[in-house]
Amino acid sequence: MIKRRRDVRAEFTGAEVDPEVLRRVLAAAHAAPSVGLSQPWDFVVVRDDVTRRAFRKHVAEQREVFAAELSGERAETFARIKIEGILESSLSIVVTYDPARAAPAVLGRHTIAETGLYSVCLAIQNLWLAATAEGWGVGWVSFYEEDFLRDLLDIPPAVRPVAWLCVGPVQRLQDTPDLERRGWRTRLPLDSVVHYESYQVIR
Ligand SMILES: Cc1cc2nc3c(=O)[nH]c(=O)nc-3n(C[C@H](O)[C@H](O)[C@H](O)COP(=O)(O)O)c2cc1C
Repeated sequence: MIKRRRDVRAEFTGAEVDPEVLRRVLAAAHAAPSVGLSQPWDFVVVRDDVTRRAFRKHVAEQREVFAAELSGERAETFARIKIEGILESSLSIVVTYDPARAAPAVLGRHTIAETGLYSVCLAIQNLWLAATAEGWGVGWVSFYEEDFLRDLLDIPPAVRPVAWLCVGPVQRLQDTPDLERRGWRTRLPLDSVVHYESYQVIR
């Protein structure tokens, strides 16, 4: 599943989802490890077309903001890259982080505040792998302003939206990441990121 998993934009079928499969995927996310067992995540399942269209419009605007920072080959390559499948996917799941969950004494978070966010990301990865095992795809969309998403979904001010995930059955999963296929970036060799005894030592 780790090898098969892909970030999906173009391959969603949009088919109706089986509620039991959705429950299994959410349960996998909810089984993730979390700092101090805080389980600081929530999952907002979004099917409403009006909400999804409003989000897609915002993402399109943010795409333009990023595109405006690019020039030359980067701009041309980015122009060919699809960055979301918000309307094509069956539904979306917005994953949020609540720093107040289990606070103030979150065991293990007193030195590193981000451990709460790390926990949410582990839940997202569990969800992603479980969805892959079910023959579904997931596409993470991060081209948004957090406040826009808070307003759109009535998320309280202290809670952070961490991911908008496009979710659902797919025709197929690509063998190679989209960004690699489109010439944006390639995956690094394992040996270039493994260090021995000191960060300075790579074999
Ligand atoms: C935190 C995070 C944010 C991402 N945001 C986007 C996004 O806004 N749009 C998009 O198309 N892909 C997004 N991705 C997917 C990555 O581009 C993708 O994971 C990467 O290119 C590797 O491809 P793979 O997941 O298929 O292995 C995001 C992934 C992560 C982990």
